[in-house]
Amino acid sequence: TRCFAIVPAAGSGSRMRSEQPKQYLSLLGQPLIRHTLAALCASPVIDRVYVVLSVGDQEWDRHDWTSFGNRLVPLFCGGASRADSVLNGLRAIADDTSESDWVLVHDAARPCLAPWHIENLVRELIHDEVGGILAVPVADTLKQADSHQHIAATVPRDGLWQAQTPQMFRYVMLKRALESARNVTDEASAIEAMGLRPRLVRGDPTNLKVTYPLDLHLAEWILQHREE
Ligand code: C5P
Repeated sequence: TRCFAIVPAAGSGSRMRSEQPKQYLSLLGQPLIRHTLAALCASPVIDRVYVVLSVGDQEWDRHDWTSFGNRLVPLFCGGASRADSVLNGLRAIADDTSESDWVLVHDAARPCLAPWHIENLVRELIHDEVGGILAVPVADTLKQADSHQHIAATVPRDGLWQAQTPQMFRYVMLKRALESARNVTDEASAIEAMGLRPRLVRGDPTNLKVTYPLDLHLAEWILQHREE
């Protein structure tokens, strides 16, 4: 069995309050997405990396990606939502994959993915029936708000995890799940909607998603302080 990565990178990044989609924001002098793709392309457990860009992406071709060689394949087929982008990517690679291949879907916006994150996930799941995701236990106390922003309830955090990526599922199962899913914000929820139970593989908080401007600084700090 082979493992492919799909990197949805067709978002507009509206929460960053920036003109530039966040995948192209500068992180240590490089487009943020270069760090993400470098981590995946360098992994010996991943066979090829597909990056899903928006149809009208103006930025990709302005950069030089030749150092990644043929391990990196851009697909200009992004959709209206993250799930649509992933599904379009899966459809685009249909001829290159077989039923039993694994797909690791990883957000372009998580540039601090480390080799051990990928290796732990794949080691834990490679013989699994369903697949699973990287995640971390919730650290904060969680409050349920009412419609006036008063606390209606305190949600027990026992057993609550924050979903990260990569999310690892078999090609055919994932495609089928996303084709029947509606309004899912990650791959696992589409699999769950089919009545299956993906596994939680413990990651760590350094694999953060760059969402707000502060996250860019955190990501730079993490990359600079990482031991080789
Ligand atoms: O907006 P959010 O942080 O949830 O986006 C997660 C990932 O999904 C990002 O890498 C973003 O580029 C991608 N995305 C996409 N197509 C969309 C929306 C988001 O590929 N239509």
